[in-house]
Amino acid sequence: MPLIALLPGDGIGPEVVTQARRVLDALGLDLSYQEAPVGGAGYEAAGHPLPPATLDLAMRADAILFGAVGDPRFDNLDRALRPEQAILGLRKAMGTFANLRPAKGFPGLEDASALRPEVARALDLVIVRELTGDVYFGEKGRRETADGLRQGYDVMAYDEGEVRRIATVGFEMAKRRQGKLCSVDKANVLETSQLWRDVVNELAGDYPEVTLTHMYVDNAAMQLVRAPGQFDVIVTGNLFGDILSDQASMCAGSIGMLASASLREWAGANGLYEPIHGSAPDIAGQGKANPCAAILSAAMMLRHSLGQEDAALRVEAAVAKAIAGGARTADLGGSLSTTAIADAVLAGL
Ligand code: IPM
Ligand code: MG
Repeated sequence: MPLIALLPGDGIGPEVVTQARRVLDALGLDLSYQEAPVGGAGYEAAGHPLPPATLDLAMRADAILFGAVGDPRFDNLDRALRPEQAILGLRKAMGTFANLRPAKGFPGLEDASALRPEVARALDLVIVRELTGDVYFGEKGRRETADGLRQGYDVMAYDEGEVRRIATVGFEMAKRRQGKLCSVDKANVLETSQLWRDVVNELAGDYPEVTLTHMYVDNAAMQLVRAPGQFDVIVTGNLFGDILSDQASMCAGSIGMLASASLREWAGANGLYEPIHGSAPDIAGQGKANPCAAILSAAMMLRHSLGQEDAALRVEAAVAKAIAGGARTADLGGSLSTTAIADAVLAGL
């Protein structure tokens, strides 16, 4: 029986993971669950954002359903003890280098999108974000300049192996969709990006069925709100992917709607699944959070790590039906509670 690690984390994480679990339970699959604290909750329980027992569970599990981490009470701790280190540490330890972030307009949600309805409707893309390298994991620190000024630095670096394996995921994904891959970089300024572009171009020969284009990240940010329908699959580095995926979420309607999968193999063994939103401490514990991103993350887990494509499609269809039927939390301009939205999804299963 597959083991699911539930890591609810901080803020609204526990509320949305609880609802995702309800939806999974309703599918009647044979799954077992074990829960462990992570983030600020991990620090409170065991003195570390990623306690050894939590990491051990994550490594043993067949898949991880993750909520969110981040708690302002712990923002002044050493960086190594801050809640965010839990998710960064998990990604690194598990080697989940490929982060899939689909963004699609939901029929009926056009009014919630920051874009005009006819522009929003065309949105149907996947951001393939590299997740274990880049400026996130390069050497970083503080030092003093020659003039005695404090200086912070973070090194951006990718080696060709890292670029090749994430670009491969991008090409494979494009092959299974509309056959269009857009690689996003900043090759006009950054050497890291020039290497990225060279390696992506070298791989293109292996994928004659995929049309490859390149775009600078500033232009991509602009094109994403001007005409998001032009994108099918975007492959990009860790930092650019972080920024562009938040932006893509508002094209869809709300950051509360977007799911993600973090994989270390194309087949998805032992993946980590999480909403792209954060812990939203301002609304935590009020029953206002949108559980759709967590529920859709559970659907991605069914698809990529548990081989349950049919169940994944059922869950996605039920979310779409609930949304089309007018189920709305506050982020979507409505007033339904977290539980009530999940009820609507359950009703549509
Ligand atoms: C995300 C988040 C994380 C990231 C934070 C919480 C470290 O913003 O998953 O997009 O920057 O990757
Ligand atoms: Mg982010």
